[in-house]
Amino acid sequence: MPSVENITFTAAPGETIGIIGATGSGKSTIINLIPRFYDCTDGTVSIGGRAVTDYDIDSLRGIIGFVPQKAVLFKGTIRDNILWGNEDADDAAVMAAAQTAQAADVIDSKGGLDAVIEAGGANLSGGQRQRLTIARALVRRPKILILDDSASALDTATDARLRRAISGLDFRPTVFIVSQRVSSVMNADRIIVMDDGTAADIGTHDELVERCELYREIYELQTGGATA
Ligand SMILES: Nc1ncnc2c1ncn2[C@@H]1O[C@H](COP(=O)(O)OP(=O)(O)OP(=O)(O)O)[C@@H](O)[C@H]1O
Ligand SMILES: [Mg+2]
Repeated sequence: MPSVENITFTAAPGETIGIIGATGSGKSTIINLIPRFYDCTDGTVSIGGRAVTDYDIDSLRGIIGFVPQKAVLFKGTIRDNILWGNEDADDAAVMAAAQTAQAADVIDSKGGLDAVIEAGGANLSGGQRQRLTIARALVRRPKILILDDSASALDTATDARLRRAISGLDFRPTVFIVSQRVSSVMNADRIIVMDDGTAADIGTHDELVERCELYREIYELQTGGATA
């Protein structure tokens, strides 16, 4: 049985696409198709009008900054962990990525880029790990940035600052934001509402509040009932 089906959408360069929906609804499955962590059994995923299966896999993944749902850090310095996203980056580029990722204070509090992270990021909080993995994805200045619930451990103010910083990036990536929070996706150009492996609806926040019962339910639940 397919994990997801009947979903059609397009993202123009520089657009932000939000993906929201219950646990197990297929959010991660969809975005994993872009870097080909899985392939479609039916249908196609294209970038720049070309199917992802027609790209050389390394060049495809080279233009994507992917922050997985579970942050993966290894034992080594903070610098090495971020450079994993782009070995050629200098410290200024690492710090610029960290600034956008709201990770500069994490680096400060640990004592700088030479501070050592334990295996799995054991000496960091969940939100600190998430911000460092976002910095790692940004340091390659990707054409496509994919955040799979990557801000779930951040407070809403930090999450908002992160999204503002990303939308101000000079290299203007196309951004996919998977989140359980309406506040994280409501400013997206389009939001895909996932329900049990299919898109219940795709639209802007205002359109979805108006016509998508599932989206409205999530929104009302998270905002305490106000729909305006
Ligand atoms: N590696 C896998 N092999 C088989 N089935 C999988 C695999 N990963 C996910 N699934 C199934 O695919 C469906 C969609 O899962 P997916 O991980 O895309 O959900 P999700 O919306 O990202 O959920 P969550 O919010 O918990 O991350 C689920 O029914 C899940 O059990
Ligand atoms: Mg997921």
